[in-house]
Amino acid sequence: MTSTKAILGVSGSLRQGSTNALLLRAVADRLPSGAVMTVFDGLDDLHHFSPERDADHENGTAVLPAVARWREAIARADAVLISTPEYAFGIPGVLKNALDWAVSTILFDRKPMGVLCASPGFEGGHKAMASLLPTLTALNTHIPEGCSLVISSVRKKMDNEGQVTDAATAEALSRLGAQLVGASE
Ligand SMILES: Cc1cc2nc3c(=O)[nH]c(=O)nc-3n(C[C@H](O)[C@H](O)[C@H](O)COP(=O)(O)O)c2cc1C
Repeated sequence: MTSTKAILGVSGSLRQGSTNALLLRAVADRLPSGAVMTVFDGLDDLHHFSPERDADHENGTAVLPAVARWREAIARADAVLISTPEYAFGIPGVLKNALDWAVSTILFDRKPMGVLCASPGFEGGHKAMASLLPTLTALNTHIPEGCSLVISSVRKKMDNEGQVTDAATAEALSRLGAQLVGASE
């Protein structure tokens, strides 16, 4: 018997109605049977990272509850999918902050990871991807083939309900979901 594969979705946007949150849902809707996505909702609860706020085993300092919740969500996941906007040619601080909270752990080590960078701009998203990939390399994540995707002009590829209407994008999202689940076996 094969067990259900747990995919953790992480949106780099906190915005209500975020296109990146909608893209996570679009991938979730297309996952192969036997895989389920849970979207993490606690990025906004994380403190700004600073090393002295991290648990200190020698002094017995406990892990902050919001940080513990984030780390447990990563640990439980067979694979992680980040979908993020581009902010000022990089990634939103809230996402970088969350990733910084994982640096002192081995939670992302060889963890299959998918990455979507979506922007309404004609050439948007590429700089967010270029900024994010080195951080994911530092965390030693494993990005399988077909699992990193820049989606420029994203609003032209969705309808008002957030359904992906562009056939090539829909196909790429299905492929990404299948590859990510395949890599987590
Ligand atoms: C502070 C800020 C900076 C932005 N910088 C960029 C940028 O550098 N490149 C880009 O393509 N879009 C940029 N955008 C536009 C975002 O890509 C756009 O708002 C996107 O829809 C946000 O994603 P969301 O719908 O998931 O919230 C920026 C938006 C904001 C609010």
